[in-house]
Amino acid sequence: MNQEPTAVATEVPGEPSLEAREIADPGAPRLDPRLAPTHPDLHACNRARLLDALSEGEGMLLFASPEHIRNQDAEYRYRQHSDVLWLTGWRDPECAVLIRKGAEQPFVMFVQPKNEEREVWTGRRPGPRGAETLYGADAAYDLDELSQMLPALLQGVAKLHYRFADDAAHDRLLMRSIRTAKRAARRSGLDVPLTFIDPEVVLHELRLHKSDAEIELLKRAASITGDAHLAAMQATAPGVFEYELEAIIDGMFRRRGGWGPGYSTIVGGGDNATILHYVVNDQPLQAGTLVCVDAGCELDGYTADVTRTWPVDGVFTNAQRELYQAVLDTQVEAIAACVVGTTHHALHELTTRSLTRAMCRLGLLDGDPSDPACIDALIEAGAQKRYFMHGTGHWLGLDVHDVGAYAGGGESKALAPGMVLTIEPGIYVSPTDEDAPERFRGMGIRIEDDILVTEGGPVNLTAAIPKSVDAVEAACRGER
Ligand code: GLY
Ligand code: MN
Repeated sequence: MNQEPTAVATEVPGEPSLEAREIADPGAPRLDPRLAPTHPDLHACNRARLLDALSEGEGMLLFASPEHIRNQDAEYRYRQHSDVLWLTGWRDPECAVLIRKGAEQPFVMFVQPKNEEREVWTGRRPGPRGAETLYGADAAYDLDELSQMLPALLQGVAKLHYRFADDAAHDRLLMRSIRTAKRAARRSGLDVPLTFIDPEVVLHELRLHKSDAEIELLKRAASITGDAHLAAMQATAPGVFEYELEAIIDGMFRRRGGWGPGYSTIVGGGDNATILHYVVNDQPLQAGTLVCVDAGCELDGYTADVTRTWPVDGVFTNAQRELYQAVLDTQVEAIAACVVGTTHHALHELTTRSLTRAMCRLGLLDGDPSDPACIDALIEAGAQKRYFMHGTGHWLGLDVHDVGAYAGGGESKALAPGMVLTIEPGIYVSPTDEDAPERFRGMGIRIEDDILVTEGGPVNLTAAIPKSVDAVEAACRGER
């Protein structure tokens, strides 16, 4: 025997508009304008793009990233989940976003309530009223109300874009809400979510294709990043510590209005450059060596990702120049190939072939660089991975390794206008590699730029940062 359906509200309780509430309650405190999003139009445009991509009866439920304790009572500075940031610009923790195509209120937020006592400790909160008036939510509520309201809000949503297994408590809350909503639906006849899709299918595909406003932010992040790399080149000298360059770089990011580094700044002097994600940055730079710096500024959530490698004394030795030029030639060739229709896989193949030929030419690998069959055989055997062990690049945006599929339907993704990706070939020779020519041992060289794909060809957003041998040496001399 079926259980009698429980009565559940099938409509969202109507909230009066802010104006109405302010008229009703003229004593309501004014919202602090500092709580407003920096780029409301960008997020409104993103929501419109999402609603356009969804079909009637589809919804999306997203949650903020959790906060993380650094140690004891200290928290890491909070960084919003990029999906939530992309859709709303909301920067505070503990929120949920519900998007419903075709609903009277398509954009609903649940956020931290105003709380004078907590705000003394952790800062001003926009609260639900701020979510509506400053962030454009059609309706907003205290996060505490989510479990009670979600069943009603899910009525009419047949397909829900939601990522399971990120957070068990959110999964439980959703499944409970759907059970309740189903019972109510027996009376209302409205749809409830029976089909679930990972948000990456639609949302991440949208994030992969940048709008003009997003490209503008990436350009500004690139410009700040350029100034930081230049300042670090000028400050480099034997005896300077890696962390001093890190401080100059991260300091420039903040001084120019960025949020800081979009990922931990890498300053690898000498053979530390052969450790790909070296972030301890605690050694002095040695004369006669190179330093490899991988650092990108995050501006309003959008990050650059740039690597430059330069000589600690400001002048490349012959061996350093040879290896550097080989990586640079490959990088320039790969950037030129970033045209509409080229696949991500093809870019990696091109880069791999070019670097493998260089490795043969430089004596790192045994083989004839001019014999394509020989190069093919080396690549087939994976010989080049000893010195080039990472990918050629990745999507770039709100996340340094940005979202978006690299392949689909068994095919590598083709580049399209509005995509932004890094091109970052490198050669890394272990200091203990007895098979490598001695003069290259302990060198790590990576060169990385941020490339916007356009109908007119690749646009290098980080082209202004010195890269040729002459330009790098001039920058180290302070000539730029
Ligand atoms: N910038 C770090 C990386 O691309 O892995
Ligand atoms: Mn990168």
